[in-house]
Amino acid sequence: MPSSPRLAAAMVQGLKLTSTGSVIEFGPGTGPFTRSLLAAQPSGSRYLGIELDPDFHAYLEQTFPAADFAHASATEAFDLHAQRQMPPTQAIVCGLPFASLPVAVQDGVVTNIDRLLAAGGTFRTFQYLHAFNMANAKAFRHRMDQVFGPGQCVAKVLRNVPPACVMSWTR
Ligand SMILES: C[S@@+](CC[C@H](N)C(=O)[O-])C[C@H]1O[C@@H](n2cnc3c(N)ncnc32)[C@H](O)[C@@H]1O
Repeated sequence: MPSSPRLAAAMVQGLKLTSTGSVIEFGPGTGPFTRSLLAAQPSGSRYLGIELDPDFHAYLEQTFPAADFAHASATEAFDLHAQRQMPPTQAIVCGLPFASLPVAVQDGVVTNIDRLLAAGGTFRTFQYLHAFNMANAKAFRHRMDQVFGPGQCVAKVLRNVPPACVMSWTR
């Protein structure tokens, strides 16, 4: 089930985006966060969505024709950003199902976040409240805390199926 508009709004709330930076989205799916991100972007700010599934990728290109989507894995984000000569990454918004990703992919994604995020930049993802204390969810937070310092749950969104917590790390 796609994330709700409430969760999409919370994922974008408070991000510092300027006309001289870029924002990257991992795993846009059918685009609920994409819609909020594109609406929040100031003019001149660049957007890149990275989606692994070919059908979702085609759907995104049709639905948001002005936005840039790569049919690729988030583990390729640093190279995709460099190839496009995009400005510094001010935010990464992530819809990846971290709990079910193989550890090698999780590690690859965290490495890319570390290489991409500019000083002052923010990484956002969500975790479902019912799974918040499961081993995989905790392991991901721990890995992120080691790289970026302690993350915060900046919003609990009950109007989402299932209810979710928005996790945020700022460099
Ligand atoms: C749980 S869905 C979330 C979709 C959307 N962001 C939302 O919240 O409704 C996860 C998305 O991540 C994509 N995905 C999974 N692994 C990926 C990877 N390694 N790189 C990029 N996208 C990936 C899936 O195809 C799917 O679209």
